Amino acid sequence: KQANVMLDKRAVIADIDERIYGSFIEHMGRAVYGGIYEPDHPEADEQGFRKDVLELVKDLQVPIIRYPGGNMVSAYNWEDGVGPKEDRPRRLELAWQVIETNQFGTNEFADFAKKTNSDVMMAINLGTRGIDAARNLVEYCNHPSGSYWSDMRRSHGYEAPHKFKTWCLGNEMDGDWQIGQKTAVEYGRLAAESGKAMRQVDPDIELVTCGSSGSGMPTFPEWEAVTLEHTYDVADYISLHQYFGNRDNDSQNYLASTMELEHFINTVRSVCDYLKAKKRSKKTMMLSFDEWNVWYHSNEADEKLERWQQAPPQLEDRYNMEDALLVGGILITFLKHADRIKMACLAQLVNVIAPIVTENGGGSWKQTIYYPYMHASVFGRGKSLHTVSASPKFDTKDFTDVPHTDSAVVYREEEEEVTIFALNRHTEEDIRVHYALHDFEGYEVEEHITLHHEDLKAGNSLAQENVKPALSKAYTWEGQELQVELKHASWNVIRLK
Ligand code: AHR
Repeated sequence: KQANVMLDKRAVIADIDERIYGSFIEHMGRAVYGGIYEPDHPEADEQGFRKDVLELVKDLQVPIIRYPGGNMVSAYNWEDGVGPKEDRPRRLELAWQVIETNQFGTNEFADFAKKTNSDVMMAINLGTRGIDAARNLVEYCNHPSGSYWSDMRRSHGYEAPHKFKTWCLGNEMDGDWQIGQKTAVEYGRLAAESGKAMRQVDPDIELVTCGSSGSGMPTFPEWEAVTLEHTYDVADYISLHQYFGNRDNDSQNYLASTMELEHFINTVRSVCDYLKAKKRSKKTMMLSFDEWNVWYHSNEADEKLERWQQAPPQLEDRYNMEDALLVGGILITFLKHADRIKMACLAQLVNVIAPIVTENGGGSWKQTIYYPYMHASVFGRGKSLHTVSASPKFDTKDFTDVPHTDSAVVYREEEEEVTIFALNRHTEEDIRVHYALHDFEGYEVEEHITLHHEDLKAGNSLAQENVKPALSKAYTWEGQELQVELKHASWNVIRLK
C-alpha cells in the first residue's frame, strides 16, 4: 500500500499555540497525594514534591496545567486549601467520594507549576458557588496587595501575586454527574456574570466557557448554542472534553475514532461562528480542548473502590500500544486545527488516566502514551502546515472512509526544521508514504523515531518498558522527496533540518 502527501512551507494553517500540549492535575485519586506530592517519599524536595515526578513532567515540557478539577471543583471551597496546614479542614469530597485533607492547595500548586516551568489554568466552582467565591479567588491569586484577599495571600507567605492568566468558568456543567448541574440558560447567565466580575478584579485574565462534556451528550450542540448566547462576549475560549475507549475490543474501529473527534471540533467551530455572525461580533471564539485522553481500562476497578478513602487508586488506566496510537492520532488532529484549538489538556498528568505512574514510596515510570505526547510537545512547536494527502482508506463499524495513514507537519522557521508526525492505523500492513516537500532545499533527515510493538495490547510497568521509541532507517530522501516506510500500527516522528 502507498500514500501520498504534499506540503509547502508557505501553506500555513497557523502558528501553533504551545498550550495545546497542556495537561491536568485534579484533586482525585493519587494525582496530587502520592503523585506530585508525597512529603514522606525519599525523593521529596523541601516542599514535599517528588523530584522523580518533577523530572518526568519537565521532560514533557508541559506548557500549562489545569487545576484543581474536574468534577471535584464543582463542590470545592478554595479557602480550605490555603493558610496554615494544621488549620485546613478534612472534607468529604463528593464528586469522587473520598476524603480531601486539603494539605495541598492553590499556593502549593503554583509552586509545583513554577518548578515544572508550566503556567496554571485555574478552574472556579460554578456548581455549589458562584460570582462571589470566584472574584475573591481572583483577588487572592492575582491582586498585588492592599485588599482583604490579596493581603491574606501575603500573610500566607506569598508576597507576589501568582498572576494566573487562564480561568475556566466551571467544569462540565451539562453533566448530570456534576454537583450543581445547570441548564444551558442557568449556566450561561452564571458564567457570564462570574466572568464579568472576575475581569473587574483583573482585566488581563482569559476566560474559558464550558462546552459539552463530549460529543455524545444528548444536549450537544444545543448546549454550545444556548450558553454562548450569554457568554460569547465575556469568554475567549469554549471548552471541549472527550474520552475514548476500545470497549468492544475492535482495534480498527477504536483507532478510527479520531473521525469522531474531527466531527466534534468541526461542529463546535461552526456553532461558534454562527454565534459570531448572529452577534455581529468581531471576536472569533477559540477552542480549549481541556480534557482528552483514553479512559476505560480502570472503569471496573473503580466501581469496587470503597468510599471515603484518602487518595485511593482511582482511574488508574494501564495503557497499551494501541492507546499510544490513538493519542498520537488525537495530537495530529489538534495540529490540523491549530487555527482554532489554542489550548488542550491531556487528562491527566500523574496516576489518574496519566502518562506518568508512581508507586507510593517507590519508583515512577512512563506509560505508552507518554511518548507520542512528549514527541508532539517537544518537536511540535512552530507553524502547522497544510497537507494535501491521499491515503488508502477503510471502513469500520462506526466510521467510513478512514485513512490508513495520517500526518501533521510542523515547520520551525527560525531553526529551519521540519517535523512530520505520522500514524499508520493499519493493524497488519506496512504502508509506504511519499512526501513531496516544496521549498525545503538543503534539508536532511535528522532522525526517524518510531513507536511500534507487534502486540497492540503490550504495555509498560515499573519493572519493564516494553513500548518505547526506537530509531528507524526505513526512509529515503532525494530531491525534496521523502519516502518513508510506516510499520503497521506505528507512530512516527520524522525530523528534517
Ligand atoms: O478527568 C476525569 C474527569 O473527567 C474530570 O473530573 C471530569 O471533568 C471529566 O468527566
